[in-house]
Amino acid sequence: MDYDIKDINLADKGRLRIEWADNQMPVLCLIRERFQKEKPLNGARISACLHVTTETANLMRTLQAGGAEAALCASNPLSTQDDVAASLVRDFKIPVFAIKGEDHDTYYKHINQALDHKPVITMDDGADLISTLHSERKEQAKEIIGGTEETTTGVIRLKSMEEKSVLLFPIVAVNEANTKHLFDNRYGTGQSTIDGILRSTNLLLAGSTFVVCGYGWCGRGVAARARGMGANVIITETDPLKALEAVMDGFRVLPSKEAARIGDIFVTVTGDIHVLGEDHFGLMKDGAILANSGHFNVEIDIPTLEKMAKSRRIIRENVEEFLLPDGRKLYLLAEGRLVNLAAAEGHPASVMDMSFANQALSAEFMFSKSKGLEKKVYIVPPEIDKEIARLKLSTMGISIDALTEEQEKYLASWEMGT
Ligand SMILES: NC(=O)c1ccc[n+]([C@@H]2O[C@H](COP(=O)([O-])OP(=O)(O)OC[C@H]3O[C@@H](n4cnc5c(N)ncnc54)[C@H](O)[C@@H]3O)[C@@H](O)[C@H]2O)c1
Repeated sequence: MDYDIKDINLADKGRLRIEWADNQMPVLCLIRERFQKEKPLNGARISACLHVTTETANLMRTLQAGGAEAALCASNPLSTQDDVAASLVRDFKIPVFAIKGEDHDTYYKHINQALDHKPVITMDDGADLISTLHSERKEQAKEIIGGTEETTTGVIRLKSMEEKSVLLFPIVAVNEANTKHLFDNRYGTGQSTIDGILRSTNLLLAGSTFVVCGYGWCGRGVAARARGMGANVIITETDPLKALEAVMDGFRVLPSKEAARIGDIFVTVTGDIHVLGEDHFGLMKDGAILANSGHFNVEIDIPTLEKMAKSRRIIRENVEEFLLPDGRKLYLLAEGRLVNLAAAEGHPASVMDMSFANQALSAEFMFSKSKGLEKKVYIVPPEIDKEIARLKLSTMGISIDALTEEQEKYLASWEMGT
């Protein structure tokens, strides 16, 4: 079996961590048990480009239980957990091409190796696998029946491909499922972004001024958790609706250049480019912390920060100090890459349980129903979304009411009024 990982001897630690995460993933476990019996993915070759974490390992095991032959590469150069990669190779015989800290060329070499696996289904988190395939290996698209996409940024890229009529096969946008973005993006990113900031800096959040750029699903989560720890949270936005929502949620909303003057900690979660740049760096207080939890490392304009700096040094793991000519120091976390995955362990398994239940069921859907699909970006079928919510509640021991016949009739009617 071909693979490229850091060190196979890390597998024991990875195996235990994968098991620990699995304990928090009961919905995925139920799917895995069914897959084991029914083998709905028999013969499906799947190439996945996802963060190589314990939760992803359990997704890979589930696809394998369903009869798929899966290969995995990283969707970010800094998010790979090397012990997990080792265990996937040694204990589960899954080819993995990922090493934490890999450079740009190795990152793309690994994506190409995952594509050499000759997939019929692709799985992406950010659409790097698909964009490599569409730009460098177009011929291969003929063999592919469809793919899935995990995150907001990937969905944006894929919709742009669909609009420009360059998308060569159908995609299920897992991110658009309610049981994905309402929970993973909000509660997952909310908690794990704070986790990444605290693990790398050990700062006290209480009393700090904490600026969140972007009040989408992730931004709402980060802002709520920072407020919960006693920070004074400021939101910056470009969408008036989201800004208004932030105001009514009780946050202070400011233009980013005003926020730049007063923030102690800045987190970008926009999916946009150069949200914090030269103008902001010029205004920031000495000691300001810069972190990103959006998909790509372009939200903070790092090349400009590098140009502006007189000198730079790593002061702690995942913390780089940039000394500016006027003596101020700015601190960049995790090279501006997803701080929750690069400086912590990513989302807790319990929330990834739902995201990856969506991935597993969307792969099954794609494998069985692809014939009728066009070269478009599809949402996760609503019945899959609802079923995951139902299963999650039941594994949490929570039951809810059902509509009575009278209520169903009433809700479907228009005749009855006051
Ligand atoms: N860290 C993680 O583990 C993780 C998890 C899920 C999603 N993501 C990524 O996080 C990013 C955000 O995802 P989301 O689901 O919250 O998206 P979203 O579309 O719900 O929210 C993004 C928000 O950013 C705002 N925005 C855009 N440009 C801005 C700017 N220049 N200044 C201020 N605000 C701006 C938009 O108006 C929008 O409200 C994406 O890149 C997504 O892929 C990361």
